[in-house]
Amino acid sequence: VIEYKVDSVLSLMTLDEKIGQMNQYSGNFASTGAVSDNQSGKYLKKGMIGSTFNVFGADHLRMLQEQNLKYSRLKIPMLFAADVIHGLETTFPIPLAEACSWDLELMEQTARAAAEEATASGVAWNFAPMIDIARDPRWGRVMEGAGEDVFLATQVARARVRGFQGISNYRDLSKPNTMMACAKHFVGYGAAQGGRDYHSVDVSEQSLYDTYFPPFEAAIDEGVTSFMTAFNDLNGVPCTANNYLYKDVLRDAWGFKGMVVTDYTAIMELMHHGFARDLKQGAQLSLDAGIDMDMISEAFVTHLKELVEEGKVSEKQIDVAVSRILEMKFLLGLFDDPYRYFDAERQKQVVMSEANQSLALLAAQQSIVLLKNEGKVLPLSTEIAKKVALIGPFVDERESLNGEWAIKGDRSQSVTLREGLEARYKDSKVQFAYAEGTELPLLDRSTMKAEKDNQDAERGFAEAVKVAKASDIILVAMGENFHWSGEAACRTDITLPGNQRELLKALKQTGKPIILVLFNGRPLDLSWEAEHVDAIVEAWYPGLMAGHAVADVLSGKVNPSAKLVMTFPRNVGQIPIYYNAKNTGRPFDAKAPSDYKSSYIDVDNTPLYPFGHGLSYTSFEYTNIMLNAESFGKGEAVKLKADIVNSGDCDGAEIVQLYIRDRVASLTRPVKELKDFRKVVLRKGETKTIEFTIDEAMLSFRDKNRKQITEPGEFDIWLGASSDDESNRFVISFK
Ligand code: IFM
Repeated sequence: VIEYKVDSVLSLMTLDEKIGQMNQYSGNFASTGAVSDNQSGKYLKKGMIGSTFNVFGADHLRMLQEQNLKYSRLKIPMLFAADVIHGLETTFPIPLAEACSWDLELMEQTARAAAEEATASGVAWNFAPMIDIARDPRWGRVMEGAGEDVFLATQVARARVRGFQGISNYRDLSKPNTMMACAKHFVGYGAAQGGRDYHSVDVSEQSLYDTYFPPFEAAIDEGVTSFMTAFNDLNGVPCTANNYLYKDVLRDAWGFKGMVVTDYTAIMELMHHGFARDLKQGAQLSLDAGIDMDMISEAFVTHLKELVEEGKVSEKQIDVAVSRILEMKFLLGLFDDPYRYFDAERQKQVVMSEANQSLALLAAQQSIVLLKNEGKVLPLSTEIAKKVALIGPFVDERESLNGEWAIKGDRSQSVTLREGLEARYKDSKVQFAYAEGTELPLLDRSTMKAEKDNQDAERGFAEAVKVAKASDIILVAMGENFHWSGEAACRTDITLPGNQRELLKALKQTGKPIILVLFNGRPLDLSWEAEHVDAIVEAWYPGLMAGHAVADVLSGKVNPSAKLVMTFPRNVGQIPIYYNAKNTGRPFDAKAPSDYKSSYIDVDNTPLYPFGHGLSYTSFEYTNIMLNAESFGKGEAVKLKADIVNSGDCDGAEIVQLYIRDRVASLTRPVKELKDFRKVVLRKGETKTIEFTIDEAMLSFRDKNRKQITEPGEFDIWLGASSDDESNRFVISFK
């Protein structure tokens, strides 16, 4: 039925009207009052804008839709989009942080809550989730994804697509709280050379299939309705004009039926890539590759008609793209009611609702990773009389707590660490004394240069040391200003910015125990900190409820359970460093070091904190681990059972990880690959039995011809608390 409706609208459209549907603008046009005559206003008046993004508010968008319909001869509704990456107004932790919860249900819930707020505010298309695998912490956009691992990131991609879209199947977007999600950025954007945003990407086909493709293929399986191109070129061909990616893989091999939009000005950038001589050729190349909508470049709207007249592109190609766009508008119900997403009443009810704020607190609590806790300095008891020195630029920092891409999150409402601690310890014997110590260096976004750090360091340090000396314990809150991570915020030095480490060194001189709480958007080089402070709490950018969540963890009200989804290197020279690397022909053995092995002379091969690492206030034991068979064949499976025991002093949750290694294969395989996990919640003293199924698919990989195969042979299996946990290893064989 929808195809029939699409065809009948299409048959009434002029070529200009069709091309107009393929044209998308950012929402800086005519936001109030009369339509302006700038470019977007000009095309709006001709009824030639298919979609507008990053405009919000039921009433405001109702007015924009009215204007659009006034000028659209066939009354084709406008599709409103936005980057609702980690919440609309209720800001959840940054996606990288939330992924550290390994809690797929939670991630689905926060995505749904974000979608509820967005759809009530007029937005029917979300430019999220970002599902690029990211293994280079220098790259600023690692904060938007789910980290380095293919299996986990793929599960997270599925959960977020489900949450955002709120549908069980691709064709059912009919409710007013469902929306289109967008799998972005296809593909390899996270593999930019040197971790520099937008830089070239050269990855083998094996890496594409093993590492970068799986989250995208899974997103399609989950019913994602749109894709966004990546800015980068891939092996010499810019993604935005890449036939191989969009025709051969996305459409032909994976059968994707939804819409593809370019990233911002990406067609225009084909000229800078040296791939298109001018915008007109860019329009032709990207249409040929199968792109449906042009974000910002005005390449389609300016040149497609001419290209049709010259016979360089066919009207049929345009019809295909426009059909996909119209189909989405039909599926969203916009033709039935173009105003269905503008529900001011619902907006009032759901935006920043109590339920969403509680969810933001829960998500933040679950995202915080305890990296180190020497001598069990944490939790900070509420019973024992203690003087706590609160030092560092993040004690009172509010603006940064939401992180980047907090699209409508009101930064003035986030709870600071000091506020959270004061509320939590209000009726306790704990006393706080404050000193900022140093300021956070800022970033001048116009020049993209880091601004000078604190000029008055000496005075700040002296005051901080004085406060520290008069206390029993020092709690230091440090990190990156939020502009230091996110799009185009890449760093070559990933230590704490400015003189924060120097301040720590000065505090260390006092001999008092130090707890370091970090707020940042990427794995940092914490080599000095890990050696010299007693505890490290990685809070990331926790969002609206930041201070409360961190205080809950510091006080032990919440027992931390999150685990890293990205490796923390010892220094930048180790990058890229990730747990599932290859063994090489000359693997280095730390237990029997020798020359001419794959190693560095100045730093270990191991990371500072590996993927999967995260501590708890309790302890867990893995016992009675049993495999029901040591070998299996086609169509069979092996069961692995284990008892997980909470053997410590408090309730907690353990993320149990299952890794596999294919010992010998026709293509070299990683030393370990995560294949499954369970998050097990255990009361103090409680034991739970968990079970994994190891089947043929789990042992499979893409062969030289990109066919999914499982080769007979031996496989190592590890069940552990982290990617470097070697304590429980088994061998199975596949016949
Ligand atoms: O969705 C984003 C994309 O991730 C980066 N460039 C801008 C787009 C629209 O805001």
